[in-house]
Amino acid sequence: MISFINADLELDRQPILTDINLTIDRGELVYIVGKSGSGKSTLLKALYMDIKPRRGEVSIAGYSSSTTKRRHIAHLRRKLGIVFQDFRLLHDRSVYDNLAFVLKVTNTRQSLIRDSVMQALEEVGLAHAARQMPLNLSGGEQQRVAIARALVREPVAILADEPTGNLDPDTSLEILEYLKKINQKGIVVVIATHDYELVRHHPARTLQISGDTIRETTFSNSPAGYRPLP
Ligand SMILES: Nc1ncnc2c1ncn2[C@@H]1O[C@H](COP(=O)(O)OP(=O)(O)OP(=O)(O)O)[C@@H](O)[C@H]1O
Ligand SMILES: [Mg+2]
Repeated sequence: MISFINADLELDRQPILTDINLTIDRGELVYIVGKSGSGKSTLLKALYMDIKPRRGEVSIAGYSSSTTKRRHIAHLRRKLGIVFQDFRLLHDRSVYDNLAFVLKVTNTRQSLIRDSVMQALEEVGLAHAARQMPLNLSGGEQQRVAIARALVREPVAILADEPTGNLDPDTSLEILEYLKKINQKGIVVVIATHDYELVRHHPARTLQISGDTIRETTFSNSPAGYRPLP
């Protein structure tokens, strides 16, 4: 479903991650952890093809960085749900219209739009908020709208970059519950986070970036938190 093969990732010619090899299979929920500036967002950018590896290959949902043409990147992104720390909702449109918007741009039938939007809002427990404006909702609710918007096109994967970065600890755990529920339906979920508390409460496969590389870690209950595998 997702693979990095000998991939070197750069931002503006600055090497960030070197010789990355990893595979994420269908149905997985994976955390990407690492301190601020370690390259978590960079890794996700490679997945939604905002950047192309300098060397090696990144593949996702059948799209390879080596062969995907610029004009096909939009097609790939329609199969992905991307969620950010700052929600990125359209503030001048209702919750309903925020979701409907992503379907309208692909010329989805009106009757189908209504059903898909309401179903996605139900998934995050916000069907009742369809007519609200985003800024009248709490941060946690806004992030749930963003998750519903990511779901509305029935993605094969959700890529979440610090989805709980602006939320209090309890709300963060609640957001994780929703992401886990989505994952249980078979959608791959990749979460970049530096919130170790979150990982402690909802353990899952964890990849840790340190230096210019990434490796599997096991969670340890010691105060030190993470311990890289030998
Ligand atoms: N446009 C750029 N050109 C060069 N270097 C950049 C650019 N943008 C970010 N960087 C650097 O790339 C490194 C990786 O950044 P990235 O945003 O991927 O880290 P991150 O792990 O997501 O951090 P955070 O936890 O703060 O979100 C950082 O050292 C950052 O300073
Ligand atoms: Mg980041």
